[in-house]
Amino acid sequence: MNIIVTESYEEMSKKTADIFEREVRNNPSLVLGLATGSTPIGTYRELVRRHKEEELDFSSVRSFNLDEYIGLEPENTSSYTYYMYEQLFNHINIDKKNVRIPDGMTEDPVRYGEKYDQLIREAGGIDILLLGIGTNGHIAFMEPDEELSVDSGVVELTKQTIKDNSRFFESKKHVPTQAISMGMGSILRAKKIVMIVSGKVKAPIIGEILNNGRVTTKIPATFLLLHNDVTWICDKEAYSRVTI
Ligand code: F6R
Repeated sequence: MNIIVTESYEEMSKKTADIFEREVRNNPSLVLGLATGSTPIGTYRELVRRHKEEELDFSSVRSFNLDEYIGLEPENTSSYTYYMYEQLFNHINIDKKNVRIPDGMTEDPVRYGEKYDQLIREAGGIDILLLGIGTNGHIAFMEPDEELSVDSGVVELTKQTIKDNSRFFESKKHVPTQAISMGMGSILRAKKIVMIVSGKVKAPIIGEILNNGRVTTKIPATFLLLHNDVTWICDKEAYSRVTI
């Protein structure tokens, strides 16, 4: 496990972009796994800049996103599909047919999850996966529970996640209660994982995970402790409760 602590959100974003840039330049047909939310915005901004100013080429890259809300059309400005095009895909030269984001409007979300894992397998698995973490320790939309699904599929969002994510919606009432999420299997099969964490609000959960060194389904991100190539990039506020 590598841990990088940065002075600021900007430095965290640049260091993350450095890793992704290196991987893309080394392997132009890389398979990316990508997250949404507030944390990756700076990383995507930096990757867009490097594409525009430094010829970072995404033309053969393939990508799989972690999750999408059930019931949101891609055109909905709160959907993760809309976010990904706004923040990244519309501004780089990725081939749109190489972009996969779970379809929140699918008629059969259960079968869709199986199909999603199959597509990831057919692509040869994820080479490098970008993750953020919820204040409750979720990764993708794998929420704290008694058990965690290995396979991708439908998840019920917790009250905490609905509250945390209501900032992206008109109100809490508008946040969907279900999502399609990549499962723990596809997450842990990624060859390389980069977890980015920013802000005081994440300090308690990061402290709990890194100080305790224990794996529990009650904090899904603890499963990352079992993976042999995870880099945690935390700004100093997010890292402030770590004592190891
Ligand atoms: C988003 C995702 C989530 C977020 C997490 C943190 O695709 O999978 O696990 O990474 O909820 O979100 P932010 O970055 O908004 O704090």
